[in-house]
Amino acid sequence: MKTLHIPEKGQEPSTILKELKERREADIRWEDGRTWSLVYYLNDEHQYLLQNAYTTYFSENYLNPFAFPSLRQMESEVLEMTASMLHHPKAVGTMSSGGTESIILAMFTYREWARNNKKTSRHKTILAPATVHPAFEKAAHLLGLELKRVPVDNGGQMDTVALKKSIRSDTLVIVAGAPSYPYGIVDPIEEVAAIAQEHHLPLHVDACVGGFILPWAEKLGYWSAPWDFRVPGVTSISLDLHKFGFSAKGASLIMYRSMEYLRNQFFISTEFRGGVYVSPTILGTRPGGAIAAAWATIQHLGQEVY
Ligand SMILES: Cc1ncc(COP(=O)(O)O)c(C=O)c1O
Repeated sequence: MKTLHIPEKGQEPSTILKELKERREADIRWEDGRTWSLVYYLNDEHQYLLQNAYTTYFSENYLNPFAFPSLRQMESEVLEMTASMLHHPKAVGTMSSGGTESIILAMFTYREWARNNKKTSRHKTILAPATVHPAFEKAAHLLGLELKRVPVDNGGQMDTVALKKSIRSDTLVIVAGAPSYPYGIVDPIEEVAAIAQEHHLPLHVDACVGGFILPWAEKLGYWSAPWDFRVPGVTSISLDLHKFGFSAKGASLIMYRSMEYLRNQFFISTEFRGGVYVSPTILGTRPGGAIAAAWATIQHLGQEVY
């Protein structure tokens, strides 16, 4: 097989862009509605705004919020508006690069929270419905935790009797879906939250798909079961801007009921020879474009279009 090398001499941008167009020909035609869950396209006007907002902040790096206070402001505004949408204006959180990062962050936060508050590293098990997204399995794998899948009933909802039986002294956190990816079914969040509270366990609601659907479905009268921070016992929610938030790829939110949890997410190194290094999420370099596009989308669509 021929070894591929970095080209000796570069090519003109026009040649490369032409080739990109050609290479794309073989890909699935999302413009024709041939994809589900991979591409969230609304309309051309919105696409134009997204691309322009993204490229306005194409070079900015949110690794350093002091260098780019405008990005910090946009992140704060997105978080504040989302907290209000989730009926808990005091909720706190961070933007992340996607659902998987939000979920890994939440599981990491609870691991650290348990270690710092319960003064033990015994708590290792994530209890989640059998329909849970593999991002939780990935989080468990990366963080040295264990994922235990709780059966779902015939309607596809987490079986709360089985959940109660699964709780052990090493349980770290309970997870519920709003909704699950495979079936689009929302778990019985109020019931699950009551069980979590009874056992003094945190409850993470994975609303990566539903976080920007359910609030509007409720306003339109299609949905009524409470699933967000109105339910006592829900301690965190992951929701994706780059899914039904209709933002550009690389944008999600991890929201916590209070700072009691979020503070455990932050990483600080005082040993770095380059100076004090503070990082609230998993990524180091964070693309400014994803934040600007998310902010722009919310401003453009408003509750009316959502
Ligand atoms: C319910 C749910 N959680 C988490 C994720 C992971 O999100 P991402 O692919 O943005 O990392 C998905 C993705 O489809 C999902 O449907």
